[in-house]
Amino acid sequence: MEGRIFALAVLCLVLSSVRALEVTIPKKSYEFARGDNITLPCSFKSKLASPSLVIITWSAEAPAADVAETLILSYYSDSKVTDIKSMYEGRVSLDVDTRAGKANLILSSITLVDNKVFECRVLIPTDDEGTPAATVRLVVLVAPSTPICKLQGKAEYGQNINLTCLSEEGSPTPTYKWESTDVRSMPRAAPNPRTTDNGGILSMYNITKDTSGYFTCTSTNKIRSAKCNITLAVMPPSIAFGSTAIIAIVVAVVAFIALIVIVYCCCRHRRKKREEEEYAMGAPAEEFHDKEPARNGDRRPAGREEDRRVDREPVKDRRRPDNDERQSDYDDRRSDYDDRRSDYDDRRSDYDDRRSDYNDRRDRYSDRHDERHDDERSTNGSRDRRDDDDRYDEPYDDRPPVPKNKPLRKEYDD
Ligand SMILES: *[C@@H]1O[C@H](CO)[C@@H](O)[C@H](O)[C@H]1NC(C)=O
Ligand SMILES: *[C@@H]1O[C@H](CO)[C@@H](O)[C@H](O)[C@H]1NC(C)=O
Ligand SMILES: *[C@@H]1O[C@H](CO)[C@@H](O)[C@H](O)[C@H]1NC(C)=O
Ligand SMILES: *[C@@H]1O[C@H](CO)[C@@H](O)[C@H](O)[C@H]1NC(C)=O
Repeated sequence: MEGRIFALAVLCLVLSSVRALEVTIPKKSYEFARGDNITLPCSFKSKLASPSLVIITWSAEAPAADVAETLILSYYSDSKVTDIKSMYEGRVSLDVDTRAGKANLILSSITLVDNKVFECRVLIPTDDEGTPAATVRLVVLVAPSTPICKLQGKAEYGQNINLTCLSEEGSPTPTYKWESTDVRSMPRAAPNPRTTDNGGILSMYNITKDTSGYFTCTSTNKIRSAKCNITLAVMPPSIAFGSTAIIAIVVAVVAFIALIVIVYCCCRHRRKKREEEEYAMGAPAEEFHDKEPARNGDRRPAGREEDRRVDREPVKDRRRPDNDERQSDYDDRRSDYDDRRSDYDDRRSDYDDRRSDYNDRRDRYSDRHDERHDDERSTNGSRDRRDDDDRYDEPYDDRPPVPKNKPLRKEYDD
């Protein structure tokens, strides 16, 4: 019935095309995926065999009635010029052949904005009867993005859990389907007696060990599909807790052992280093101390005696150069001391020189002193003699006493 009507319509079109201009688009709507490069077909028939001018326009009209249609491009067959609106510049073109009646619109990298009704219109002078325009709906589809599978709840015996599946985008809106296999990878209808699958959420109640398995979600819309998966291992609650506790304990024990090992190694390393330093610095008190019992040969196992001796050998060799060194050091210091001593002697002799010089001067001084002293004494002698002579005269005489000894007085006056 429908087929017959369609055939009739086609017949009508063919008949009418003979009489007037007829613009046609094969389908009412076309579906393409976002980003595709597409062609919207348009064909026309004119009553004129070879029209002198054909004007073709493509415009887009918004799905809403109140929004004005926007012109995309205009083509003029006489000058073969295609005017493209700046909004579509670079991503549209016309596949045109006026003789064959072809006026296809080519759109590249379509987006969701291109979700519109497009109109193809043909103007031919003197052929204005018939159907000059045809429209087509473009449906831009978006493939579902790879969905994300998630587990809600605890995968433990007796729990209620959800497995969720969601694609971020997809146009039209994707539908979701969960499938599962058991632990032996055998497909199964429903993993649990009480399971609901609604809008990508698989809800499972009172789950058991048998719920464990491999779950796959498929997100599908008209054009494509995408999958995600999740592996579910349902554990008894006690074991689930026990396993974490055991892991914690094991980690703690390992950490403690590691700490001990590190400390031991550290101590060993430090002791070794200290021994090396002592070795480098020469005979330590410890080795000296070790030597005392070795000479006696007591308090030491006989077997280790040999080893000790072998060990000690370098010690003796070591100490000798050290002693020599210290001896030479001592000699150095001694010579230094001698130097200082000779220096001291020099200074001493210098001092002695000065002292002798002083003595000389002192001798000279005392010589002179003695001379004076002698003089004074001789004066005193004369005075004594005068005292004896002028004992009664003195109190009446204010003037200094005049020595009576002529020669002495002569010397004083000089
Ligand atoms: C669409 O065409 C552009 C060049 O115009 C090209 O880069 C792109 O890969 C094409 N896309 C598809 C899906 O063919
Ligand atoms: C599972 O999903 C249902 C319905 O969306 C919700 O009521 C329930 O709380 C969810 N369960 C868990 C464990 O998230
Ligand atoms: C959960 O399942 C166990 C057997 O697997 C059953 O004994 C128990 O009653 C169930 N609990 C609920 C709340 O359905
Ligand atoms: C499961 O999903 C991962 C990515 O999450 C994917 O690499 C893997 O191939 C998927 N396995 C199967 C069997 O589809």
